[in-house]
This record gives sequence, structure tokens and C-alpha cells, in this order.
Amino acid sequence: MKKQVKKAIIPVAGFGTRLLPVTKSVPKELLPLVDVPAIQVIVEECIASGIEEVVLITGRGKGGIADHFDYNYELERLLEERGKFELLEKVRDISSMIRTVSIRQKKPLGLGHAVLCAKDVVGDEPFLVLLPDDIITSTYVPVTRQMLDVYDKYGEAVVSVMEVPQEDVSRYGIVAGEQWSEGLYRVRTLIEKPDISFAPSNMAIIGRYLLPPVVFDYLQETKPGIDGEVQLTDALARLSRERALIGYEFKGDRHDIGDKLGFLTANISIGLQREDIGPELRKFLKSLDL
Ligand code: UTP
Repeated sequence: MKKQVKKAIIPVAGFGTRLLPVTKSVPKELLPLVDVPAIQVIVEECIASGIEEVVLITGRGKGGIADHFDYNYELERLLEERGKFELLEKVRDISSMIRTVSIRQKKPLGLGHAVLCAKDVVGDEPFLVLLPDDIITSTYVPVTRQMLDVYDKYGEAVVSVMEVPQEDVSRYGIVAGEQWSEGLYRVRTLIEKPDISFAPSNMAIIGRYLLPPVVFDYLQETKPGIDGEVQLTDALARLSRERALIGYEFKGDRHDIGDKLGFLTANISIGLQREDIGPELRKFLKSLDL
């Protein structure tokens, strides 16, 4: 029988060079989407999708991420003494949100290596990988839930995909294959950051993956590339050849918050959806003489 997906891996060990200098000492995963750190938005997506345990793959300088999900008794006492009970509840909710495990990736040897670090904690079960750079808002259901629904129906590995402008294909892992129903593709080819002239399509993998445990074996056998990094894409390409991989065109708006412009647009669009600040923000944007 098909195994249930209960665990999600969130790799956060990268250096975030595109957002330097802020990421010199602040993990990009703690940068806010209005007033909520990006990592919390991702963890809330997991919870809303029915995931029971989150495995954070952390690295140097990323201790604050695990702290965010820990109890902070001094802060709680202070809020209690000052009668700020609404804030107190908010802070406590974060700490009791979900079971989290942190694993240290001692060297940033690539996304594939980061995922492999979770092998012993995940064990022989299918699992999710969520890249916290990709914030996907959906008025439908969370994108992770959408992918779990595809898995429940077909029982195969799933990667989320979306069309990107042709000139951007060299920034993404690109897939190609046959479409067999609306929004669903049987992936046959995967290429990491292809040159525009070699790209087999403009369908890009976005940071959500639902994978079987055999991927850990593939990663163990994957040789590092010329940059010394183990690529997840290589293991996915093998999965598509030897088993099956579904490309799922998700419903939602995606922002790459690892990028300066993406970080700003995510804040604006999430800010506009918020009841407390949305109307004022809209007024401000309209007032700009652009
Ligand atoms: P990126 O390639 O986007 O790297 O990693 P990065 O360091 O986060 O950002 P830039 O490009 O330098 O600005 C994709 C995901 O894989 C994780 C990152 O934390 C990010 O979530 N990662 C990458 C690891 O956990 N370990 C690695 O060795 C590499």
C-alpha cells in the first residue's frame, strides 16, 4: 500500500549570496513577509497540508531559525507581565506549531547533499522538500496540499512546475515530457540551468518536491558536479528514467524571495492581502506618481 507522507525537509544551509549584504549575518529565511519570517510561512504551509514533522537542514549562522520555533520564556514572561496576551498567544503558538528536527550540513555541498543529510530522520518513507525561497500564495489550497492530492491519486513522485519566460530558462531546472491531462506531465527530461539554445522547454521546477525514499540511494550514488555540489536534479533525472516523475503545474502565485525584486514583490502582494495594512498600502501605492 502507498505510504503516507508525514515529513518535510526544508534546506536552509545556503549562503543567500543574492541578498548580500543583509544575509552576511541574518539568515534569509528569517527575513519578514510583512511581520512573519519566511520560514514560518513555509512551516505553516506544511501544517495546513497535514505534515507532522519538519526537518530543517541548517548551516553556519542559521541557529536563529531553530530558535524561532523554540520557547522563549523570558519574552513570554515579559509579555505576560505587560498584559500583552494576544502577542503572548502568537509567540506561544509558534513554539508549539509542529515537531521540528534540525540537522547540520557541515559544508554547503549542494541541495542534493542537503536533502541526503535527512536520510536517517526520514527513513523508508516518501517525503516532501520545500525550498523556502519559493513563496507560493494560493487562494485555492496550499501548493503542498495540491501535490499531496496528486500523489494520493497516482502514487508517484511529483515536482511542482511552472512556465517561465524563455529568457529565464538558464536560471532553473527545466523539465520536458508528455502532458497527459490538464496541469500534469510525465517528465522524461530534466536539465539543470540549461543554455537558452539547449532548453527542451520553458517549464521550470519550482521549490516543492514530493519524493520516494529511493532518492536517498540515488543521491548517495550521485557524483558531485564540477562546482563540487551534489545536484538534486541529477537524482530526479534518474527517478524519471528508472521509475516515474510527475510534473504538476500548481495553482498559485510564486515569488522568489531569494532575489531582491522577488522579496519586495512578495511583501507587497502579501501586504495587500492583509486586512490590517492592505487598504493603507493600496492607498500608498496608488498615491505614487509613477
Ligand atoms: P540556492 O542555490 O538558491 O543557494 O539554494 P542559496 O545559497 O540559498 O542562495 P544564493 O543563490 O546564493 O542567493 C537552494 C536551496 O538549497 C539550500 C538553500 O538554503 C536553498 O534553500 N542549500 C543549498 C542547502 O541547504 N545546502 C547547500 O549546500 C546548498
